[in-house]
Amino acid sequence: MSDSPIGVFDSGIGGTTILQAVQKLLPNEDYVFFGDSKNCPFGTKELPELKEIVKSAAEFLIDKQAKLIVVACNTATTQTIDYLRETFPDIPFVGTEPAIKLACDSGASNILLLSTEGTAHSPRTQELIEQNIKPGQRVDNFPCLGLAEAIETRNIDKIRANLVENFKNISEPEKIEVVVLGCTHYPLASTEIQKFFPNAKLVDGGEGVAKQTKKLLEEKGLLNQSRKRGEVEYYFSKAEE
Ligand code: DGL
Repeated sequence: MSDSPIGVFDSGIGGTTILQAVQKLLPNEDYVFFGDSKNCPFGTKELPELKEIVKSAAEFLIDKQAKLIVVACNTATTQTIDYLRETFPDIPFVGTEPAIKLACDSGASNILLLSTEGTAHSPRTQELIEQNIKPGQRVDNFPCLGLAEAIETRNIDKIRANLVENFKNISEPEKIEVVVLGCTHYPLASTEIQKFFPNAKLVDGGEGVAKQTKKLLEEKGLLNQSRKRGEVEYYFSKAEE
């Protein structure tokens, strides 16, 4: 069992940013990555549909013998991680949540949280803000419409146009000190996002997910003892043309 792979899934290429962070900490593990491009974006799905989608993704990875599943998606985590744990009680799950704690602990006064509509409106995100915000801090919970889809196209012109449209009404962007990239697609556009917020530090949840994955594997005696570098198998469901 310990030499079985770690499963990782997202609505597409966004999950690779989490995969990289986990691989960096756990290079000797094997991985099975599932990018559900066919169902991208997750961020605008109603909960019942999203539950069906994540259930199928988990089943796919369990079929591939995954010993643990990393939900490399903030949208799926904030809305369905409890459902996944209940549905598959024998599989450990690690979720990806917006790095709100990291941002608030930095002591910055002006924090901008960027995420999908699903994440921005989820009660879990509200809870994370309430649990971590400190006196004098401001956390703007800002859904970026269509940004994950634009990034999924890998087309830089589409990404730039989307960012201009999304950020056109943000006043005094130079005053923002920390930007939370609360969707795993967004680090893939970090250079472009940074241009809009020149004085901000961009943070994401990748390192936290990696640490949590390692901790859980250790606790369960599931760490791969191999000394050689692990491999990754990639699977993508096909988006309709
Ligand atoms: N990458 C995902 C997230 O972290 C989902 C983006 C989407 O499909 O809407 O939220």
